Amino acid sequence: MKQQDTFPMEILENVDGWETLMFLYNAALKEVGTKIEILNDEFLHIHRYNPIEHIKSRLKTAESIVKKLKKNGYESTLENMVKYVNDIAGIRITCSFTSDIYRIADMIAKQTDIQVLSLKDYMKNPKESGYQSYHMLVTVPIFLSDTVVDTKVEVQIRTVAQDFWASLEHKIYYKFEGMAPAYISHELRECARIVAKLDERMLSLNNAILNLEAHMENGEKRTP
Ligand code: GTP
Ligand code: MG
Repeated sequence: MKQQDTFPMEILENVDGWETLMFLYNAALKEVGTKIEILNDEFLHIHRYNPIEHIKSRLKTAESIVKKLKKNGYESTLENMVKYVNDIAGIRITCSFTSDIYRIADMIAKQTDIQVLSLKDYMKNPKESGYQSYHMLVTVPIFLSDTVVDTKVEVQIRTVAQDFWASLEHKIYYKFEGMAPAYISHELRECARIVAKLDERMLSLNNAILNLEAHMENGEKRTP
């Protein structure tokens, strides 16, 4: 994994740097979004199975970028944004099963123009809050008229159940401004464990159904 250190800062000097940056991150969202849609379509075409339930993408707002830089002790400059804010372009993929998460992550990482800068497996190592998900920080090349810019995109991949937990936890976190009473945090961690168990059982159930289907198909072939 290579750390990006070659962002051509000079492209931000002539015109409106902020707009140029946002244009790049928006282009990166489109590129990665299309790649993911194509992978999903191909999967459907070959395996008659749709691994992705939803894809949601968003650009971080100026306010939220400035807040994050400040929180981490950086001045609000374009250079610091490029260097230290990794989730200006964000894509969230929700899928049915935990096995889909690794399959999708693998398919993304294998694309030769995508560079994986870092991976965080919060399923193997859940966060203190109970949060589970799989995060990839990647760059995708954006081809401009006279240069190519590797642009960062944060990809979060989750099951539907993990997404349900994360959106509820996010709302609670904001309601209490990060200071939820202990019993609520405890209950959320407990719910996260139940979510993990549910995902595990749904995956086993799905595998059992697939096995059964395969047996039935073979049986039908043998008895014309
Ligand atoms: P941020 O400063 O929040 O970007 O965290 P980070 O730099 O440590 O990155 P990380 O990959 O751990 O988390 C980034 C994103 O994951 C967040 O912006 C959230 O969307 C999501 N996330 C991480 N932790 C939690 C959590 O405890 N609860 C929920 N609901 N979402 C989380
Ligand atoms: Mg974030």
